[in-house]
Amino acid sequence: MTFVCTNCSVKYAKWQGKCDACQTWNSLTPFIESAKSSVLSGLANNALSLPNNQPIKMDDVAALPLVRLCTQDIELNRVLGGGIVPGSLVLLGGEPGIGKSTLLLQMALQLESCKVLYASGEETVAQIKIRAERLALAAQNCFLLQENSLRKLLEHVDTLQPAVLIIDSMQTLYGEEEGGMGSMHQIRACATRLLYYAKQTGRAIFLIGHINKEGTLAGPKLLEHIVDTVLQFEGDKHFLYRMVRTIKNRFGAASELGMYEMTANGLQTVPNPSAVLLATQDCSVSGTAIGSCLEGSRVFFIEVQSLVSISKYGNPQRNATGYDPRRLTMLLAVLEKRAGLRLQDRDVFVNITGGLKVDDPALDLAVCMAIVGSLKDSAIAHDQCFIAEVGLSGTLRKVLRVEQRIAEAERLGFKEVFIAAQSQSITRSFRVKINYVQTLKELITCLIH
Ligand code: TYD
Ligand code: MG
Repeated sequence: MTFVCTNCSVKYAKWQGKCDACQTWNSLTPFIESAKSSVLSGLANNALSLPNNQPIKMDDVAALPLVRLCTQDIELNRVLGGGIVPGSLVLLGGEPGIGKSTLLLQMALQLESCKVLYASGEETVAQIKIRAERLALAAQNCFLLQENSLRKLLEHVDTLQPAVLIIDSMQTLYGEEEGGMGSMHQIRACATRLLYYAKQTGRAIFLIGHINKEGTLAGPKLLEHIVDTVLQFEGDKHFLYRMVRTIKNRFGAASELGMYEMTANGLQTVPNPSAVLLATQDCSVSGTAIGSCLEGSRVFFIEVQSLVSISKYGNPQRNATGYDPRRLTMLLAVLEKRAGLRLQDRDVFVNITGGLKVDDPALDLAVCMAIVGSLKDSAIAHDQCFIAEVGLSGTLRKVLRVEQRIAEAERLGFKEVFIAAQSQSITRSFRVKINYVQTLKELITCLIH
């Protein structure tokens, strides 16, 4: 008998209280490896044996054109890298209630050109039907199935021959393997089997996966390695806008972002996110600044809000929502040391509006300007935006794709952009006024009074 960690599936010969690999306490459960439990025997049971492949010279390999299946959802096409790839295994993760089932059911109902099977282990077909009616979409070629057993599910798939299979959810799927439904090695075994199945049959398979309490996809280390594409639903479920982000994609760019709005009739795409994210701006208040962040191939403009207040306690608070707290601490240190601002006895709160989580360094300058604006109680004009990284020396550094960002700023109607003096190489001419700035201190002196 061996022991396996239910969180990360690492095996141990002896029981121990804490998993050395993922540091989780009390996660080891007994695991009996029988012939029946192996993934490969599972494949054999289903008459799917592994092909006997031989090494081939690269030049002799025929390059097959990748024909993608385009969904009617442009945001979903984007995060998938241009559409559904036949034979791919896609994992869609997110918190409960964020809209995973809705998104994939919508996709299933809109895929008119091919057969889709939506298999749910969580809801009955009647419940799915109610949801479909809510979405007000006419189903052309969509089949529903309530099933928990992977073997029975694949039997139905073999008979029905759908081009796309949706499994809702990974945690309610049950394979032949030992372990309770939803346990980590059960999930991994099922996912591996589905990967082989997808590759052999050329069917695209979408898996819905829940997020565990740490906020990572259930079976974080293992499932993400097995599948071809990992999409993650982000955003607060209490918030109107939801984001689907590509974490990994074997068939396209990672870090693409799709934006949706949850309405009474399902998820609607948001084609112009910057306009929506900036719609809430309040010009008269100090402590806001607009910056840009690059999400995959697109540029978003977002508002950074900050509040700086006198700290009541010895240890001032530094709080960031949607922004890396360590980056905030660094920027505060730069503001103190290089711009001569007194912040050591102030509480500083930073918030990225719209529920977005950002990590683009190009937002540094906007974060700094929002903080300085709040500290000095001086409002920054809302037709100005800030695009630069802030270095430890207090100098502004150029950022990736600055021209694309300026073009987007112009399109959104900004009057002035502030960028690093290092980016002098801009060749295109823009109608928007471009200000080249050397250091953070220089900008603060000329903008904030
Ligand atoms: P759901 O897709 O069931 O979430 P998940 O599968 O990620 O758990 O979405 C559930 C939420 O979405 C639920 O709170 C109700 C809301 N919703 C709408 O607001 N409009 C709709 O048309 C639908 C179908 C759901
Ligand atoms: Mg669901």
